[in-house]
Amino acid sequence: MSAAPLVACEDLRRSYGSYEALRGVSFEVARGEFTAVMGPSGCGKSTLLAILGLLDRPSSGSYRLDGAEAGSLGDAERTRLRRERIGFVFQAYNLLPRLSSLENVALPMAYAGVPLDERTRRAEELLDRVGLKTKARRTPLELSGGERQRVGIARALANRPALLLADEPTGNLDSHSAAEVLSFLKVLHGEGLTILLVTHDPGVGAAAQRVLRLKDGLLA
Ligand SMILES: Nc1ncnc2c1ncn2[C@@H]1O[C@H](COP(=O)(O)OP(=O)(O)O)[C@@H](O)[C@H]1O
Ligand SMILES: [Mg+2]
Repeated sequence: MSAAPLVACEDLRRSYGSYEALRGVSFEVARGEFTAVMGPSGCGKSTLLAILGLLDRPSSGSYRLDGAEAGSLGDAERTRLRRERIGFVFQAYNLLPRLSSLENVALPMAYAGVPLDERTRRAEELLDRVGLKTKARRTPLELSGGERQRVGIARALANRPALLLADEPTGNLDSHSAAEVLSFLKVLHGEGLTILLVTHDPGVGAAAQRVLRLKDGLLA
């Protein structure tokens, strides 16, 4: 573990053609912090999160993850870093519909080369943690929205990430399921996980330790 902040962004910009969705965003996230990025629809939240998750590259600016400049890494190294260091939770879950809960959770471990018996055991443990032990063999269509998102979180934790990113993780959920997901994120934070989520919901933002406000591609 280095002394650098886990996340350090400096003057991040992202343009789509002539439209600048991020217009110079700078912030740091220390290890163990639970940060919410809040702002209205279209302000650049998903654009920012995709960059932090190494799913996209900024047009300019610096993103250092654990001290390493992401911009200077090649695609293979970025893929490896994403798999080993980052867990990503999506608003619409992004589970593979033909795979069971267990197989969805085990998949990132398969990509990381974890042997079958070990990844099965660990996927079972993770599903147990999110309260889905008895639904390990079900496919996403046989689960409620809240259950799907809990599978999504279990999958995001599969390779023991240093950083958990979540893009509107409760955006598709009823209030009861949303509260369950938030309380589990708080438990993970209590165990030391670094979490950054984006949301336009003040109730979700209130679960975080710190709120960054994004407006028109700029932090307030
Ligand atoms: N692939 C894209 N091509 C063109 N414009 C995009 C693309 N993705 C996002 N945008 C635009 O960038 C702005 C920020 O989008 P986004 O980051 O998705 O906002 P948020 O997640 O806060 O709702 C919006 O105006 C959106 O239309
Ligand atoms: Mg978005």
